[in-house]
Amino acid sequence: MQHDNITPYQNSESKKEQVAQMFDNIANRYDFLNSLLSLGIHKGWRKKCVNILKSKQPKVILDVATGTGDFAIECSKLNPTKVIGVDISEGMMSFGREKLKKLKLDSLITLENGNAETLSFGDNTFDAIVVGFGVRNFQNLEKGLANLHRILKPGGQLVILEFSYPTNWFIKTVYNFYFSYITPLIGKIFSNDNRAYTYLTESVKAFPNNQNFVAILNELNYKHTNFKSLSFGVASIYSAEK
Ligand SMILES: C[S@@+](CC[C@H](N)C(=O)[O-])C[C@H]1O[C@@H](n2cnc3c(N)ncnc32)[C@H](O)[C@@H]1O
Repeated sequence: MQHDNITPYQNSESKKEQVAQMFDNIANRYDFLNSLLSLGIHKGWRKKCVNILKSKQPKVILDVATGTGDFAIECSKLNPTKVIGVDISEGMMSFGREKLKKLKLDSLITLENGNAETLSFGDNTFDAIVVGFGVRNFQNLEKGLANLHRILKPGGQLVILEFSYPTNWFIKTVYNFYFSYITPLIGKIFSNDNRAYTYLTESVKAFPNNQNFVAILNELNYKHTNFKSLSFGVASIYSAEK
């Protein structure tokens, strides 16, 4: 099935509306479930992404699909002058804003409502753009990535972290069991949404990963495109420059 036809619910609303609704529903349990289901590994993945940006010393950074702000918070370690997080789920961002206040990062990092596909920032605005587990949820992947290219400065760096579907048969077997039975079950028990963690599994399987995703970045004129598999292929980091 085409990846952008994979939606959280089977109703007549657009993918964007369904995704925003789903993340609003699970917002209060998102951080907890992230840590439980990935056994805390997701934190190390974001750190690896931020390490890629270190040598470039980006000053103005955009975190697209910021959710509860974890990637933006990790980016604050790069000593930037400004980090902006954007997301289509107000529910996710309201938990993010609480975290930022507690960490006293609320003046450095601000979270705003914004859809990756229609962001109105000017051309060549950001030194770096990061997206954590967001691109898979875009309604129109190419439109979103093209818009990020537009607002990235020439020479600016894009770093995307996303789940992947492993290729090794043994890992794939364990992965299929975990993502088909354990994740949806734990998701149903702890979140307020019966579909969210089933959608996660379906959307990861249908999403173009590794070389296929890099090919899309190349078509959109990104340069120095690359990917790195993480944790036996269950996630990938994509890096590219404008
Ligand atoms: C799985 S969460 C990831 C949150 C965070 N980046 C992290 O690393 O934990 C995905 C987020 O993407 C957001 N999202 C999905 N489509 C989006 C879009 N087109 N524009 C902006 N945000 C989007 C959702 O609302 C949700 O908060």
